[in-house]
Amino acid sequence: MIIAVDGPTASGKGTIAKALAAHFGLPHLDTGLLYRAVGRQVQLNDGDPNNPADALAATHFLDALLLDDFLRSEEVGGLASRVSVHPAVRQALYDRQRAFVEQPGGAVLDGRDIGTVIAPEAEVKLFVTASVEARARRRWLEMTGREIEIPLAEIEQDIVRRDARDINRKDAPLKAAPDALILDTTSFDKEQAIEAAIEAVKERL
Ligand code: C5P
Repeated sequence: MIIAVDGPTASGKGTIAKALAAHFGLPHLDTGLLYRAVGRQVQLNDGDPNNPADALAATHFLDALLLDDFLRSEEVGGLASRVSVHPAVRQALYDRQRAFVEQPGGAVLDGRDIGTVIAPEAEVKLFVTASVEARARRRWLEMTGREIEIPLAEIEQDIVRRDARDINRKDAPLKAAPDALILDTTSFDKEQAIEAAIEAVKERL
């Protein structure tokens, strides 16, 4: 069984994908980490994430970087969203994601284009979304918990900018596959979101 979980930043898609993988006993790939590793490598190279050649050069030797402490930072998230615009970068990461999809027994992948480009054959496609306000608040609570002080308004602006870049890019934009089930988690807490996702998968089986 292949489960594709797509959605915008801080929608809860990562939490949901991880919980589905544990519940159904499947391996999980957070594809955002691949783009984050490319963004981080551009930064280490002193490159420009908007330059396709710099971004493509950064797609080599990503494995060591997947353990990098900075990968989950907002700064690297922003770099990831810039490098992910370039078709050559998306192509360079395609085979690796396909190999994960094709492993025997199935898999759960989360990202932006799993149901549309990476695994259009997935048996279950979820598009997880929530209001900008709810997503900003979640991210703010998470960062405050890690003792990172940042105004809520700043996080909200960053989310709006990142959404716009992901939705408006030409290659593999963020959008729900026509056969995806839309899961709006605005009024859900973490447990409710996970429960709704597990029920949705069961209904599709
Ligand atoms: O999900 P996460 O916030 O870690 O993703 C970081 C960035 O990587 C996203 O804003 C998006 O631009 C890009 N991305 C993508 N396609 C994916 C996963 C992530 O373009 N499948």
